[in-house]
Order: sequence, then C-alpha cells, then structure tokens
Amino acid sequence: MCGIVGYNGKDKAVDILLDGLSKLEYRGYDSAGIAIRDKKIEIYKAKGKLTNLKEKIKDKELNGTCGIGHTRWATHGEPNELNAHPHISNDGIVTLVHNGIIENYQELILKLKKHNYEFYSQTDTEVLTNLIEYYYKKYKMGPIDAINRTMVRVRGSYAIAVMFKDYPDEIWVARKDSPMIIGLNENGTYLASDVPAILKYTKTVYYIDNLELACLRKDKVIFYDLNGDEIKKELKEIKWDVSSAEKEGYEHFMIKEINEQPVVIKNTINSLVKDNNIDLSKTGLTEEEIKKISQIYIVACGSAYHVGVCAQYILEDLTRIPVRVEIASEFRYRKPILDKNGLVLIISQSGETADSLAALREAKSQGIKTLSIVNVVGSSIARESDHVLYTLAGPEIAVATTKAFSTQLVACYALAIEFSKILNKIDNNIYLDLIDELETIPEKISNMLDNLTTDIQKISSKFSHIHDAFYIGRGLDYAISLEGSLKLKEVSYIHSEAYAAGELKHGTISLIENGTLVVGVVTQEDIFEKTISNLVEVRSRGAYTIVVTEEGKDVSKVSNNTIFVPKTNRYFFPSLTVVPLQLIGYYMAVSKGLDVDKPRNLAKSVTVE
Ligand code: BG6
Repeated sequence: MCGIVGYNGKDKAVDILLDGLSKLEYRGYDSAGIAIRDKKIEIYKAKGKLTNLKEKIKDKELNGTCGIGHTRWATHGEPNELNAHPHISNDGIVTLVHNGIIENYQELILKLKKHNYEFYSQTDTEVLTNLIEYYYKKYKMGPIDAINRTMVRVRGSYAIAVMFKDYPDEIWVARKDSPMIIGLNENGTYLASDVPAILKYTKTVYYIDNLELACLRKDKVIFYDLNGDEIKKELKEIKWDVSSAEKEGYEHFMIKEINEQPVVIKNTINSLVKDNNIDLSKTGLTEEEIKKISQIYIVACGSAYHVGVCAQYILEDLTRIPVRVEIASEFRYRKPILDKNGLVLIISQSGETADSLAALREAKSQGIKTLSIVNVVGSSIARESDHVLYTLAGPEIAVATTKAFSTQLVACYALAIEFSKILNKIDNNIYLDLIDELETIPEKISNMLDNLTTDIQKISSKFSHIHDAFYIGRGLDYAISLEGSLKLKEVSYIHSEAYAAGELKHGTISLIENGTLVVGVVTQEDIFEKTISNLVEVRSRGAYTIVVTEEGKDVSKVSNNTIFVPKTNRYFFPSLTVVPLQLIGYYMAVSKGLDVDKPRNLAKSVTVE
C-alpha cells in the first residue's frame, strides 16, 4: 500500500509530485522517490520519510514538466534507497512506480534471467519494469502492446505509472485491484493513488477500471483495453474540497478528524433521512429484497470490523435477522457456507482493502447479494458491489480511522431501523423516535468535544508510561471497547486488550495488578449492574479504572476517573462513547511525542494481502 503520483503538463512537475506524495504519505512512508523528465529522465530516491527526499533534491534544478513519484510501504525488500521506487529497467527503456504486489515475481525473475536480465533490488516491482522492457524490445509494438502482454503475464495487484525513454511527452498507466485516479485540467494531466493528492489541482477525474491502461499526454488522456483498442471514458466531478485534505490549524489530522465528526455524521444522516423517513433508495435495495433476507454476514477489517460487531447487536435486536460478523482475511479463505437468501455487507472506509474486496468477490462468486458501506466514491468495493451506501466522512488522512468509523456506525443504524420497519418489527412511533434521537447525535458529540477534551487530555497524559491496558464492557459496550483498545494500540503503541467484561474472570483477570489501567464502558441499562460488578472485581485487584458512562449514573464506587456521555437511545451509545475512547488514544500518543497520523508499521488502506 504505497502511494503513486504523476504529472504531465505545462508546469514544473517536481513541486506537484512532492505535494501529491505528501498527501499520500498515510499510505506508506518508509522511503520515497521521483523521476523527472527534462532532456532525460532523472531519478532521485531516499530512505525514510518524504522530508529526506525533499532535503536531497532541494538544490537540484529540476525543470522537467513530466514526472512520476512514489512513497513506499515495503512488502518485498527492506526499506532502503535501492528498493525505493522509481525502478529502471536494464537498458533504461522503462522507468516505473508501482503500488501493489506481483505474486509470481520469482517465476518471472527466472524467465528474465534466461534472457540475461540482472536485478539490483529485492523488489517485485523491478521485475515488472524489466518484463515490460522485455516485451517492448521483443515485439517492437510500442507501450500498449508491452504493457498489455505484461498484464496478461503477471499475477497480483498493481497500479503502475511508466515513462518510456522513446516516448518523451507521455506517461503510461495501468491497474488491477490497486487504486488509481486520473485528473485533468488546463495545465495538464495528473494521476494518483487517492484523491487528496490531486484535489488541489483538479476535481475533474477519470476512473480507470481493472485491466485497463491509459496514456497521459499534456492535454488529454487516452484509454485502451487489454486488446489494445481505444475506449471512451466519462469525466466525473469530485465533491470533496481542498481544505478537507489540509490540517486547518490542528496539530494532527487525527484530532482534526475527531472534531469533524459532528459535521460528517450530520451529513451522512441527512443523506439517509428524508422527511422523517430513512431513504435507502440510493442503494437500489428494494423492500422486496429486504423482506427476503434470511441472514446478514458483515465482513470487514480493522476498525470497520468493529463497526460490524456493533451493528450485529443492533441489527439482530431490531430486525431479528441472524447476523454473523466476519474478519475479511479469514472469511475469504474459509469457504464460508452462505445462505442463498443471505446479504453480505462489506464495510470499508477506503473501499480498496484487499481482504474486504476479496471477501466481496467470494460472496459474489456464490451468488449472494452484496451491499457495501464505503466512504470513497468510485473505489473498487463500491464499484463491484451490487448495492452501495456511501458515508460522507470526506477524505480521511490519519491512518487511525475516527470520523469514517462514526459515519459507518450511523449508516448501520439507518439500515437496522429501516429494515426493522420494513419487516414490521417496530411500529411507526418507535421508528420516528429512533430517527429523532439519531438526529441528536451530532450535537451531543459536539458538546462532548467542547466539554470533555481538556479533561481527557489531562487523564490520558498521566498514563503515557504504561505498557498494558484493558478495555471492558458488555454488549454494545464490549463492541465499542474493541475499537477503543485498537485506537490506543494503533497510535500509542501501548499493548491493550478489549474484553467482554463477563469473560475476564475466566483467565485474563490474572493480569490485573496494582495500577493496571482498565477502561470500563458502561451504558447498557439491562446489563449495567453486571458490568459494575466486573469493575469491582478488577478494582479489588488494584486496577486503576477510567469509566465511560451515561450522565447521571453513579459509578463513583468503581471509578478513579469518570467520563460522562449524554443520554441517548441504548443503540446509539457507541457513537457517543467512542469519542472519549478516540481522545484517550490520541492524547496518550501525543504525550509520548509519537507521529500520530502516521503510526509505525501501519497504512491507511491495505491493498495487498
Ligand atoms: C487499516 C487502517 O489499514 O485498515 C484502519 O489503518 C482500517 O484504520 C482498516 O480500519 C480497514 O480499512 P478500510 O479502508 O477497509 O475501512
């Protein structure tokens, strides 16, 4: 999950490439490189963050108006300058950047070595570069033929941008499974792995599909299919604004995005609620289809999976349809037994996560209806699903998701409420009450952010020295504890586990000792006392407890620090309790001086297995 960019136009490419790469660093940041074509192609690469590359070229005169760039998340070959992209072919005919993984690269190395090719790096990408050169020289049919033969020959995922020595004013691109967007304006043509990299220059874009290639000229883009025939593409307009890809005075994108939650949740609710009714018509799912659903399978990765765990409780309770929640990387290889009248619900912020995409294809291969909840318009999961429900979180830059998570939650609430009404599980009064309460969530979160942030900063910075923490809850509180624990791990590198509070005494409570931090989430009325007694158990073993609970509740006997969230319907508490949990993770990381937006070893969307 690297980031690639490219520009071909009237302006100096170097500034546009570096700016684009800085907007893609959340995809990978262990090395970076650019290739600029002026009289000849000049390649510059550096290990580490983009700042190292900028430092390296700061005194260089790079006036070329055509170039490609890359920021890396190493998969094949350690992060170093040699393995950084762009890569160049043996005879220098092909210069290339790549996002994805070539699965059969070892077999191809053997093939190419038979033709005297040598390799200077440990990467799969260098193989791709030389294979294109190999076909280009062998068949002498130009870039289209060479790239198409390569696409037929390789297995895996890729988005590539290629410069051919013999074609000075052109950049060639192709993709399969890895994301790419192509932009156009009066100053030239642009390519990138994700929208924020080109949003500053244009909102007019093309979506290139799988196994298609394109030639980016200075004033136009021409598309071809695998047969080499030209294909027409429609230009689309992106709705996001540039500022959404900037920090706007916040120290980190994560805290900016936490504070954007009231607005983006409101936008997502407004896109789903029309005249006091939930309107799912945009998904294309009909009432008849909903009535036939026998089972729901929610499949996702990371935080999106935790949205699924929350949704399971709410969907089953409101619709009485059985719900299974599946980790995508397990689901795709488990040959799951799916009921033919089932619905597979894929949840993904990026819409490009490889395991979730493969799970979607698995469901489709079994003829099961698919619905996806996705944040990125035009992403692979959105385009390949039978039905899609877009969240309106806007571009999410911080690797640890916050606002997208919250918009996915409200999207699941809307699904559950509407399905429940269609299945006559709730009457119209309850239906309207739920919608009314749902619409109070944005303001409740806004008030919490105003009133709680400083206190949570104080509480959290007291614990930056700890090595372990536990999050406990029951029911929906357990589901949201999973997300709270992940947020802490992702950004503060503190080991943490979330536990169903009732399960703790069956083993893990042995880890609780004096001063162990336990974060308890206690909002679910029907199991309130149960969770309180579990907090008594950990306190009696010396735990220090932070308790997140509903305003007006007395948890003083089991809490060293209490964080109150406003009253709401029991189904909607995850939307409120997740906010203090996000802030705890954020402020623990800040007090450790960590790079919160780009945590080590992580990336925003994992487009490889
Ligand atoms: C990880 C991100 O790479 O992928 C997480 O760091 C995210 O924040 C997970 O939850 C799943 O990503 P997506 O885009 O499918 O929701």
